[in-house]
Amino acid sequence: MLKSGIDKATGFEKRFENIGTVVFENSSTASKAVAKELADLIRVKQAQKQPCILGLATGSSPKGLYAELVRLHKEEGLSFKNVISFNLDEYYPMEPDSVNSYVRFMKEQLFNHVDILPENYHIPDGLLSKKDIADYCDAYEAKIEAMGGIDLQILGIGGNGHIGFNESGSLQNSKTRLVALDHITRVAASKDFSGLEKTPRTAITLGIRKIMEAKRVVLMAWGEGKSNIIRTSVEGQVTNQVPASFLQEHDNAVFILDKEASSELTRINTPWLVEQIEWTDKMIRKAVLGLAQDLKKPILMLTDADYIENGMSDLLADSGPAYDINILIFNKLQNTITGWPGGKPNAEDGKRPERAVPVKKRVLIFSPHPDDDIISMGGTFIRLQQQGHEVHVAYQTSGNIAVADSEALRFGSFVCDYNEKFGIKNIEAENIHKKAIKFLENKKDSEIDIAEVRYIKGLIRKGEARSTSHFVDYQTLKSILWNCRFTKQEPSRKNL
Ligand code: F6R
Repeated sequence: MLKSGIDKATGFEKRFENIGTVVFENSSTASKAVAKELADLIRVKQAQKQPCILGLATGSSPKGLYAELVRLHKEEGLSFKNVISFNLDEYYPMEPDSVNSYVRFMKEQLFNHVDILPENYHIPDGLLSKKDIADYCDAYEAKIEAMGGIDLQILGIGGNGHIGFNESGSLQNSKTRLVALDHITRVAASKDFSGLEKTPRTAITLGIRKIMEAKRVVLMAWGEGKSNIIRTSVEGQVTNQVPASFLQEHDNAVFILDKEASSELTRINTPWLVEQIEWTDKMIRKAVLGLAQDLKKPILMLTDADYIENGMSDLLADSGPAYDINILIFNKLQNTITGWPGGKPNAEDGKRPERAVPVKKRVLIFSPHPDDDIISMGGTFIRLQQQGHEVHVAYQTSGNIAVADSEALRFGSFVCDYNEKFGIKNIEAENIHKKAIKFLENKKDSEIDIAEVRYIKGLIRKGEARSTSHFVDYQTLKSILWNCRFTKQEPSRKNL
């Protein structure tokens, strides 16, 4: 665990970080630490015979926290009887039992598994009529105030720096209200709503003022995708363009990060600017590459002055002149390039990244969805095949998500037309098609598909996977494992 200790004598980190950050090895240990803080608070309040007022968030970031809280309840007897919670937000309009509703999310992730009293949790109502929203929001805030305010507020952060659904441009004293969702937010959510068109345009969110009034704020962020906005929020100007940056003005806020989310913080990304460091090979490579990129210069053109003017004079003193460091890093990089990703037979080239022996390797490519393999590493995939390695692919999904309803209908009618054209009598195929049409025509937003539609969608994705195998020399592909996440593996190259 890496705390952002601020060195009072040098003011080192203070120069950069304006919010306390704690970096954990991974999101799982981080979530457990947050769960512990919450559990401790709940217990302290229990001992004081007081309610514990929590502000809760949804999204992927708090899932590990909720899982750990459920575990603490089940295995260590943590009771939620004194917990009163207020969720940050809800899409509008939204049916509470719809798959993407935050009511459903909270029940599935937490409330259904602990002993919180149903009357004690509050989630903005996605079913209100528009004219009632303003009064409802005032009452939501009044309830929080009547409870004495939020003791601990959990937050995630959006790619644009939103907290709750307070998008860029929200004011620091904004109230709980109906807001229009930012395009970035809708794009991020669209994967859950099967497409942007079906993604809500509005939501009800707790305002920034109430978040800022919480006695403690814990913002959690995981993954490299959040690293830039974390840096901007923690180290940048306080601005309503990045609502999370308002937390710089909160006196008890902390950002809990995994390594990846912290990777752009100055103390992590360029620690030599913050303190005296020991220059490891990895660090030198990172620093020199960063320098070349920042200055838009080829590595071999970096000068002593470039090193000195960019906070790397101690490296220069240690291992300089610049010419020597440049050559060292240049050679290292050169040695990472290979046309033989699985190793080259009989090559006397110990510096290359892949071993020459054993010559033939068994390779397993994991592809979360069909097409991830060919899109993200198609060249390597084909090379490995051509160079005679034993290549297997494992698709980690049944494939039924992320296929548009219209595609399912198109393929359904194709099957029926095909049967009719070639005089194949297949009443069952027609019935399935009719059932799918009927369902899809009446499908509510984000309703779960019936099994038949799921299978059709899965088959469409399976077809895409099959196309990949044709591109990468189907005959020599060893096996394709389908749907590895949910069912028994199906070593079915032959029947793909
Ligand atoms: C959710 C919420 C949002 C999310 C944020 C990050 O209640 O208020 O601000 O916390 O969009 O979402 P994830 O955690 O899915 O990356």
